Amino acid sequence: MKKMPSAATIAVFLLSCFSIASTGSQADCDVYAATGSSFTVRLKHVLKDSDSLRWFKNENLIFHRRSKKVIIGKNDDVDSTGSLKLTQLTKNNTGRYAPQIHRADGTSAGDLPSVRLCVLDRVQKPNVTMTCTDKGHVNFTCSVGQNEKITWFMDDEALEEKEKTLTREIKDVLKARFSCNVSNSVSSEISLPVQQNCYATLQKPHVTVNCTGDSEVTFTCAVSQKDNYVEFKWFNKENKQQESGETLTKKTKDVVNTRFFCNVSNPISYHISDPAVQNCFKPSFPTELLGISIWVFIGGGAGLLILVIVTATVCCVRARRKRRI
Ligand SMILES: *[C@@H]1O[C@H](CO)[C@@H](O)[C@H](O)[C@H]1NC(C)=O
Ligand SMILES: *[C@@H]1O[C@H](CO)[C@@H](O)[C@H](O)[C@H]1NC(C)=O
Ligand SMILES: *[C@@H]1O[C@H](CO)[C@@H](O)[C@H](O)[C@H]1NC(C)=O
Ligand SMILES: *[C@@H]1O[C@H](CO)[C@@H](O)[C@H](O)[C@H]1NC(C)=O
Ligand SMILES: *[C@@H]1O[C@H](CO)[C@@H](O)[C@H](O)[C@H]1NC(C)=O
Ligand SMILES: *[C@@H]1O[C@H](CO)[C@@H](O)[C@H](O)[C@H]1NC(C)=O
Repeated sequence: MKKMPSAATIAVFLLSCFSIASTGSQADCDVYAATGSSFTVRLKHVLKDSDSLRWFKNENLIFHRRSKKVIIGKNDDVDSTGSLKLTQLTKNNTGRYAPQIHRADGTSAGDLPSVRLCVLDRVQKPNVTMTCTDKGHVNFTCSVGQNEKITWFMDDEALEEKEKTLTREIKDVLKARFSCNVSNSVSSEISLPVQQNCYATLQKPHVTVNCTGDSEVTFTCAVSQKDNYVEFKWFNKENKQQESGETLTKKTKDVVNTRFFCNVSNPISYHISDPAVQNCFKPSFPTELLGISIWVFIGGGAGLLILVIVTATVCCVRARRKRRI
């Protein structure tokens, strides 16, 4: 039985393995300090001049003073109370600091509290980057480092999300300002606010006419900034909506004189084009002249012709009568 390691021994062994493996992990820290700052490890014992004082860092003796005489370390390493002064901290100062005191007669003053100190860099000021994702969504991503906590603000109001990336429907956040607050145990920084700009303010579109096939016409609504979110709608002169889509194709004979407009829109703006008329099919004779229907001219011409014929007939008849007489 005695040769068998007890459960407690195994547990202690495993625990020590664990604590070695996780050295420097923040879960082990009692106190956090920022790189470059100072920290004093308090000696929770009233020191006598005759006492011998030792400070250990992770089992290494780093300071030893016996009867006012410094044997290891510098005089300056401790203050008048015997507390250990750590200045200009680097991550190398991370560790467990423990004091030991022996009286003049060599007896120990007992177990004194130790401190596990962790030195961390202050967080950098974070940046928020914006990505327009699939139609209608936007991602905001905070440049958060490892082991740093994050909180989000939308127009200075704290949000629930604690993740690095925030996804929103664009229509809900057209003008909203997003910023992230990044923190660790020694500091916090907040980013500058960022707004979505997935949608550009649209400019006036231009309609181009393209004769396709032998009896079709295609109108194309051209916009200068073409992102994925632009919607196209077509109207005719009577403002009756025709179809959606960037192009509109019609049988030419159905739209000989129809004036088409396109309406481009996205969630923040819209614009209407100038009207466009097909130019593929010219009727064999003009249907209008000086804005007056050709039928007026044809009708007028026919009337004139009849008048001439009637007049000629009347003249002829009169002439014959005269001859008879
Ligand atoms: C920290 O310790 C490592 C080795 O333990 C050493 O190489 C490095 O220079 C030290 N850094 C500082 C800032 O003291
Ligand atoms: C944020 O951006 C600035 C300028 O581009 C850069 O200097 C800084 O390092 C960035 N911060 C982080 C945390 O990436
Ligand atoms: C946007 O964020 C979501 C959730 O974090 C992620 O799954 C997706 O890949 C991101 N999309 C882009 C384009 O960054
Ligand atoms: C950022 O978060 C930290 C930690 O939660 C907090 O102490 C700090 O006040 C926050 N800063 C702002 C500006 O809200
Ligand atoms: C007209 O359409 C055809 C095919 O649809 C295309 O190849 C041609 O480039 C277009 N022309 C113009 C002026 O848009
Ligand atoms: C153009 O489309 C937008 C978005 O659908 C709409 O709000 C606007 O009223 C339309 N304009 C016209 C003149 O139809």
